Amino acid sequence: MALLPLLISCLLASAQTADNFYWYKDSVVYQLYVRSFQDTNGDGIGDLKGVIQHADYLKSLGIGAVWLSPIYPSPNYDYGYDIADMENVNPEYGTLEDFNELVKEMKARGIRVIMDFVPNHTSIKHGWFLASEARNDTDEAYSEFYIWKDPSGYDGNNKPLPPNNWLSVMGTGSAWQWSEKRKQFYLHSFLVEQADLNYDNPIVRKKMNNVLKLWMNRGVSGFRMDAVSWIYDDLACGNEPTSDHPNPNNPNDYGNHDQHRFPSRFSDEWVDVLHMMVMTLPGTVLTYNGDEIGLEDAYVRYDEGKDLQGLRAGPSRFAAMSRDFERGPMPWKAAKNGGFSTGRPWLPLAPSLWSRNVENEASEENKRSHLHVYKKLVQLRKTKTMTEGSCLVQTSDEGLLIITRVLRDNPTTLTVLNLGDFEITADLTTFRRSLPSSLGIVVSSYNFPATEK
Ligand SMILES: *[C@@H]1O[C@H](CO)[C@@H](O)[C@H](O)[C@H]1NC(C)=O
Ligand SMILES: *[C@@H]1O[C@H](CO)[C@@H](O)[C@H](O)[C@H]1NC(C)=O
Repeated sequence: MALLPLLISCLLASAQTADNFYWYKDSVVYQLYVRSFQDTNGDGIGDLKGVIQHADYLKSLGIGAVWLSPIYPSPNYDYGYDIADMENVNPEYGTLEDFNELVKEMKARGIRVIMDFVPNHTSIKHGWFLASEARNDTDEAYSEFYIWKDPSGYDGNNKPLPPNNWLSVMGTGSAWQWSEKRKQFYLHSFLVEQADLNYDNPIVRKKMNNVLKLWMNRGVSGFRMDAVSWIYDDLACGNEPTSDHPNPNNPNDYGNHDQHRFPSRFSDEWVDVLHMMVMTLPGTVLTYNGDEIGLEDAYVRYDEGKDLQGLRAGPSRFAAMSRDFERGPMPWKAAKNGGFSTGRPWLPLAPSLWSRNVENEASEENKRSHLHVYKKLVQLRKTKTMTEGSCLVQTSDEGLLIITRVLRDNPTTLTVLNLGDFEITADLTTFRRSLPSSLGIVVSSYNFPATEK
């Protein structure tokens, strides 16, 4: 596949970094999967000190915020999305002191910290659940913190039958789990180990609000709730006429910790294309760590798997169901374990680590690397045209996708992406008549022949 995207702008506007309440609308948010970012104590698990170690790297990206994957104490049935204590830091990742240090180091570099927040459920190891199951209301009316229901009846063997036929989202059968201790079922929309909280209970709502306030007081700027889609809600491109081409910015087609890495889903030639697309469309941009260097999936055998969703699906469905592949550690340099850990990494790294690593991508000789393209795009993203301009998406029969961003008294920016298999020669004035005869290239993909200004 020969993709030849380039990005043309009449002029490159100077970056604007006005600080305002709606910072999240035009900041690039960097999703940082702490467990796989950098290990500093040799246990093979990334930690908060590892994030601090790479603070200057994060600043060099030009991002506005880091969103930390859940760092709360957790029995790790769902790697942090099953929280056993929402007010503390998992000792695997460090201490509250490390967390405060991290916030300080980020703040010093103009980077905000966003926490993952899981409102729907807690781990069944959470103190609230243990008290609820025991109907222990000594401190608080914990017995009503979760959704408990009596059986709908009993089968021939006197086994309790679930209250109804609801199924869990994880595809693991009934959403109801019997508690021998309490002699009732509890609801779990996800894993059996994640009990749904009872939001009809005002005390639960108050408790959760207090948790949010606690982290805000610790310097957190915002929360990402347990669904990625909110952050993309603004991505739909303006209301100007568009063609009937499939929506180019379907958020699910971009990277995160629940989807195979996009160079592995598509091909390496798509890396710059996708970055150009999301960076030049309106709305918040989310980058999953590693995507900036075009990191590929790790190769994980069934016996090395960690994600229960994959393991419980069995060896034959592991590759389809497991999210371990996209959670492989960051390769920092061409070294053992990519410099991620001196110990045995909790998951294997992508085999491409010897060439596809941060040090190599950042080197000055490698000027057309994915990382260099990414950084230029982040800077472009900060221009007024990108944050405030109108947006028009056009396509051509040959497979060109053109995003035009216009703002009065500011440079117009055209993103020209070749989504087809062949080299294309196109007359851009058929897309925009008023184009000047000479255009400057702000950034082009690594396989585009022309050089940049
Ligand atoms: C829990 O998650 C489900 C599925 O994502 C959602 O439909 C529901 O509204 C959530 N409930 C709460 C209380 O957040
Ligand atoms: C109930 O909770 C209180 C306070 O957390 C604790 O001291 C007590 O031991 C618990 N009782 C039982 C029966 O577990």
